[in-house]
Amino acid sequence: MMMKSFVALAMASVAAARSITVYNGCPFTVWPAYFTSSGGNPSQPTGWQADAFTKVTFDVPTHWDGRIWARRNCNFSGNNGPTSCLDGGCNGGLQCDRSTGTGVPPASLAEFNFDAATNTDWYDVSFVDGYNLPISVTNNVGCPAPDCAVDLGPNCPSDLKGPFDSSGFPVGCKSACYTTSLAGWVDNNPNCCTGSFGTPQTCPRDGVENYWYFKNACPNAYAYAYDESSDSALWTCAGSKQASYTVTFCPPS
Ligand SMILES: *[C@@H]1O[C@H](CO)[C@@H](O)[C@H](O)[C@H]1NC(C)=O
Repeated sequence: MMMKSFVALAMASVAAARSITVYNGCPFTVWPAYFTSSGGNPSQPTGWQADAFTKVTFDVPTHWDGRIWARRNCNFSGNNGPTSCLDGGCNGGLQCDRSTGTGVPPASLAEFNFDAATNTDWYDVSFVDGYNLPISVTNNVGCPAPDCAVDLGPNCPSDLKGPFDSSGFPVGCKSACYTTSLAGWVDNNPNCCTGSFGTPQTCPRDGVENYWYFKNACPNAYAYAYDESSDSALWTCAGSKQASYTVTFCPPS
């Protein structure tokens, strides 16, 4: 009897966790990674190699809050720092540091918050940290599925385009926030919604350089920090549906 109730309890806790699948639909290797903001640790290392057309499925805790992205053109031999990849690299190397390994922009993000307070899943595709791969977030319960299936690299405005691989091909498109921050414009930056631009009211989308490049190409993704106002950036799914999600890099267009 003891054994039986233990098994029932263990199964109940497995059912409560959420399942996330990460699929590499790109015809080349990428190195996915995730960062946990709160909620506990998923059942997967924080970074791994994903060969073309392979996937992994793992559990995340019931109220996980975090982000998933993928890194391009990595070489971890002799370099386990953020520059071990052309973009998206993190402190830690192949496995990102759990407290500081958030990833170097530009990087397309899938963001999740399985929120306990509202019993709602909040999720999105975000280019707030720029773009480095086409990406989608789909689910198995018919909730909205944000995506960006187009390659935003080749047509990226020239001041944001890059980094470039050894053949000169752009493997990213930086956000105006990141680009201007690198140039030293950190405070009071309307591209980043900092300082006096720190609220949705004082940081309108039209004050963000190249907002429309990202938003026109991928209308259901975040193109700047307060893009909820577009009503096509932040998505929800009732927590009671216990959705399983798939993050796809290079989804079919
Ligand atoms: C990876 O980096 C190491 C050390 O810098 C280098 O010897 C090797 O050639 C690199 N591998 C590739 C595939 O570029």
